Amino acid sequence: MKIWVSYYLRAKTIYRIHSPFLYEIYAQILRVDRYFYDFVKLEKLRSQLQSSSQTINFIEFGAGSKKLKDTVRSVNKIAKVGISSIDQCRVLFNLVDHFKPAQILEFGTSLGISTLYMACARKKSKITTVEINQELIALASANAKEMGLKNVDFVCSTFEDYIQSLKASQIFDFIYLDGNHSFEATCNYWEQLQPFVSKSGIIMLDDIHWSEGMFLAWEHLKKHERVQASIETQYFGLLFLDKNVPNIHHVHIEYWKKPWQIGLFS
Ligand SMILES: C[S@@+](CC[C@H](N)C(=O)[O-])C[C@H]1O[C@@H](n2cnc3c(N)ncnc32)[C@H](O)[C@@H]1O
Repeated sequence: MKIWVSYYLRAKTIYRIHSPFLYEIYAQILRVDRYFYDFVKLEKLRSQLQSSSQTINFIEFGAGSKKLKDTVRSVNKIAKVGISSIDQCRVLFNLVDHFKPAQILEFGTSLGISTLYMACARKKSKITTVEINQELIALASANAKEMGLKNVDFVCSTFEDYIQSLKASQIFDFIYLDGNHSFEATCNYWEQLQPFVSKSGIIMLDDIHWSEGMFLAWEHLKKHERVQASIETQYFGLLFLDKNVPNIHHVHIEYWKKPWQIGLFS
């Protein structure tokens, strides 16, 4: 609660910013009312999963979930409370559509919904998604196959082992960290992934207000020497490494959540 209140007090609506860079990010990426045909089949898949009767054996590998604790979990519950929301998936879609990252890395596949949003956004981009749970990987890759998507490499591994297996020539342009939400793990993944992020790379951290540890990790990483700009939102944070973008650290909130900041009264 304290973290959320602090975010709310610091956040500014689009009507309080003057940077063309931030305006572009808002208009092209954070605005989730842009609509693409792919959303129909992606959301149909989400609904199917939300009414699935399948169960998955689960051994917790990361910091875990606040809402899901059982060792046998129903797919429908995971689809309802354990994956990125529609809005966040649309932001992922917009981001890939706009920046056109050639190589994308996702930590935390789960049912593959966020993965498939990125895969649909740009068929030429190659997405590598990593997940420890073999049953989830099988389900996610079956979903990709059904949608005819061939640009995803599903890797069943711990994030830690996957990093160790990376070759020096591997470079990612966009990384989405959505698993093992703890201060230590997030900072470790960040440090260990540094040699594999391109000069103009973008990193998205999910659930930055989920716990004190995650918020501390966010605060720590946005001050990293490679970070040129950061955008904090209610649920996730974006870090931009490109030295050509302005050196800006912005805390974003939708204008309807701070209606007095729509520019009419100031
Ligand atoms: C929040 S879910 C990912 C949701 C997915 N990105 C989406 O929005 O559709 C996080 C996943 O990360 C996996 N995970 C957590 N810690 C891990 C680790 N250390 N290595 C591999 N997978 C891990 C969990 O099994 C879980 O399925």
